[in-house]
Amino acid sequence: MPGDGFLLLDSTTVARGRRADWLAGELRAAIARGALPTGARLPASRVLADELGFARNTVAEAYRRLAEEALVVPRVGVGTVVAAASTLSERAADPRATGGARPARSPRAAESEPIDLAAGLPELSAFPRAAWLRAEHEVLAEASRRTLGYQHPAGAPALREALAAWLARSRGVVADPDGIVVTSGVTGALALLADALLGEGHESVALEDPGATGNRLILEYWMPRVEPVRVDADGLVVEKLRRSSADVVLVTPAHQYPSGVVLAPERRRELLAWARAGERRLIIEDDYDAEFRYDRRPVRALQPLAPELVAYTSSLSKTLAPALRLGWLVPPPRLVERIVERRWATDLGSPALPQLALARLLDSGALERHLRVMRARHRQRRDAAVASVLTHLPGVRVHGVAAGLHLLLELPDGADDVEVAAAARELGVLVQPLSAQRHRPGPPGLVVHYAAHHPARFEQAIASIARALASATAPAQRPAPHRRGHFPASDGPIGQMDAGN
Ligand SMILES: Cc1ncc(COP(=O)(O)O)c(C=O)c1O
Repeated sequence: MPGDGFLLLDSTTVARGRRADWLAGELRAAIARGALPTGARLPASRVLADELGFARNTVAEAYRRLAEEALVVPRVGVGTVVAAASTLSERAADPRATGGARPARSPRAAESEPIDLAAGLPELSAFPRAAWLRAEHEVLAEASRRTLGYQHPAGAPALREALAAWLARSRGVVADPDGIVVTSGVTGALALLADALLGEGHESVALEDPGATGNRLILEYWMPRVEPVRVDADGLVVEKLRRSSADVVLVTPAHQYPSGVVLAPERRRELLAWARAGERRLIIEDDYDAEFRYDRRPVRALQPLAPELVAYTSSLSKTLAPALRLGWLVPPPRLVERIVERRWATDLGSPALPQLALARLLDSGALERHLRVMRARHRQRRDAAVASVLTHLPGVRVHGVAAGLHLLLELPDGADDVEVAAAARELGVLVQPLSAQRHRPGPPGLVVHYAAHHPARFEQAIASIARALASATAPAQRPAPHRRGHFPASDGPIGQMDAGN
């Protein structure tokens, strides 16, 4: 009878679609309060499924999520057991978030798994494994000799067709399947674009300041010059762009990284006018996390307003997993041929089978269904993350619209964000200082990625950051609470991000 068995779990009122979520939550809570101590063995999934009246897959899915979070480990011949902190495996840091370098581990942090708020990951334990496996199975079951041979270097036609329809539906992007190039993520798209731009004689690319370190490093690698251009409460300051020598600019208009602002309508118009005013100008639109907007529909992409001036790119790194290395690029027509030729000359294109699996997920609607679930889940995590910050860091302001997978925390005036991040690392929390992502000096801040973490674990990390903030700021110089915010607040613009350019 439900309620009498393992952990007295009562599953009677749990809705069918929420069962794996519910069970994972109950098990996490039991581990946190010690009801399931280190080494405790979870019941076999079949046994627990019988007990709860669930499908066995549902229990297996809950176990898998806990294993992803390193809370349990599957042991051959034993079953699934609760992990000891010291046996937890080290999670690789996101090389994009950490500037390509793997962060060194402090002796303190090495004792237990650090909580990594620096890596910009979605909730990887929610990866739709069953749907992906089903799609791969179908692809392989039906694959002809032709499918298993060489594909077009721009990508498998079935995926380019599916992407054209999906991008039009979800982002308003105007693209013929022939005008889409499948890439190795946004990074692969930037490398291809840089090559095409060098071919057109461009030497300089303007980037948002602050902006994504990963994007900057890739473009610095390829281009002779990158020029930072200030971002304020309305996004990129186009007037500053006009004063730069660049004819190409990389922007994140739907949800600026890391400030979280949306490019204001007037700025969108100014940006397009800038692109029209010169020969061969180009806007690179990085739409990296536009699927995750929680309080309203996302703004449409820029690309449909001027497909001849915008190169649109995005990837699966925020929606499914960076490991897939699957992304897409919709270049302006003038660049398509050169880009496809470059892809041919480099590696003949991306592997076909994952592309075909993705095409199936798109055509069947499975990806959109997954995204609907993830949007609700990430929204809950965002709300919980904001609540944790308000509780533990009362002098800190949260910035950015309700979107994406990260928050920007503006620290009190006078705090040194690099020191706070170093102190947080000592306490076992990895976090990005904002000053590492900006060119010009500005208010101190921390960029925290919440989506991959259970709210309880995130709260633990925020409590450690609060201790780090207190210890990194000597009492005599402890900052006064905010009088005025420098960043746009989550619920409206409240000021400039920084004074100079
Ligand atoms: C601003 C931005 N763009 C794009 C990406 C994704 O890059 P990729 O698709 O190469 O994994 C990230 C990932 O962290 C990002 O922060």
